[in-house]
Amino acid sequence: MNLANRRVVVTGGAGLIGSFLAERLVAAGAQVIVADDFSKGRRDYLAKIADRIEIREGDLEEQPAMERALANAEVVLHLASRAFGVGYSAGNHLSILDHNERITGNLIRVLARKPAAWLLVASSSCVYPDDGPDTITELPLFSGEPEMANWGYGWAKRMLEQKALMLAKEIGMPLTVVRPFNIYGERYTWSGDASQAIPMQVKKVMDGDNPVVIWGSGTQRRNYLHAVDCADAMAGLVEAGFKGVVNIGTEETVTLRELAETICRVAGRHPHLIADASKPEGRRIKSADSTLLRKSYPGFRRTVSLEQGIVRMIEWYAGNFGGKVA
Ligand SMILES: NC(=O)c1ccc[n+]([C@@H]2O[C@H](COP(=O)([O-])OP(=O)(O)OC[C@H]3O[C@@H](n4cnc5c(N)ncnc54)[C@H](O)[C@@H]3O)[C@@H](O)[C@H]2O)c1
Repeated sequence: MNLANRRVVVTGGAGLIGSFLAERLVAAGAQVIVADDFSKGRRDYLAKIADRIEIREGDLEEQPAMERALANAEVVLHLASRAFGVGYSAGNHLSILDHNERITGNLIRVLARKPAAWLLVASSSCVYPDDGPDTITELPLFSGEPEMANWGYGWAKRMLEQKALMLAKEIGMPLTVVRPFNIYGERYTWSGDASQAIPMQVKKVMDGDNPVVIWGSGTQRRNYLHAVDCADAMAGLVEAGFKGVVNIGTEETVTLRELAETICRVAGRHPHLIADASKPEGRRIKSADSTLLRKSYPGFRRTVSLEQGIVRMIEWYAGNFGGKVA
């Protein structure tokens, strides 16, 4: 699908991935509409394209706001979600499920009446069970529980996928479901212990914490992809006309300790690193089988290495906050 001159609504378009996606779509010539309540997203994340997009502000948990957000949309890229790091998710499963279910219900109801020419929904690798293979291929949804550290969020994403799939089938609407793995980048809004791993570590190192505490054993392995490459994959999959379910991530992993060491090296800091095994850790190894992604969107590239991404985050942190963030 050629997105040039199409009216493309990005829900959650002021957030980490959404703001890079909005930039990518503007570059492709789309008429971009960002729908966000700015609970976590920021207007300044959209500063580069502010004069070329429309913003529709509203809480998509409320149906009238969803109606306004999707009015006259041709393509809908649905990213809005109450998403937090494991520090929050692990103790608030039901509330996360509940908030996200409200957003999903509104999305489905509005699209059932006014279908889009294309729908992409952002699911998550958290839909996968903990006892799956280390390198995860696109498994069917309902086998065991989703990732237990993100139990409610994982169920919310399973429900989003399932409802979007049913709607797409019933009304004949093309659907792309993406399951991003660990996505990071500057433009991250810190939320204390509820932050995700890379921003949390960057903040601790930059704030001069000593020791720097790593959650869990520190030997758990994760695959990290910069948001700019995730956003490109989302847009590229729609442009390529991919219908179905696909991972967004790569096979390479690093341990959380290696990640912290890289952040310290790039920042030129030398704190002691200690692991706190009492904190939630999630599964031992989690990496993405990217075979289907590369086949479906041959243009997919990892353009930002982990080290380059950390440099960007540290520069952004230093430039925006200088010292500590509350
Ligand atoms: N970052 C990751 O590692 C990752 C991994 C897997 C899946 N995802 C999914 O990708 C999508 C984007 O993630 P992100 O990392 O950019 O998150 P983010 O929190 O930075 O962006 C989400 C955006 O949605 C907005 N939002 C939240 N609730 C809303 C509501 N009720 N009404 C309107 N706007 C609302 C927020 O203000 C924010 O701008 C989400 O659906 C997330 O679940 C992210």
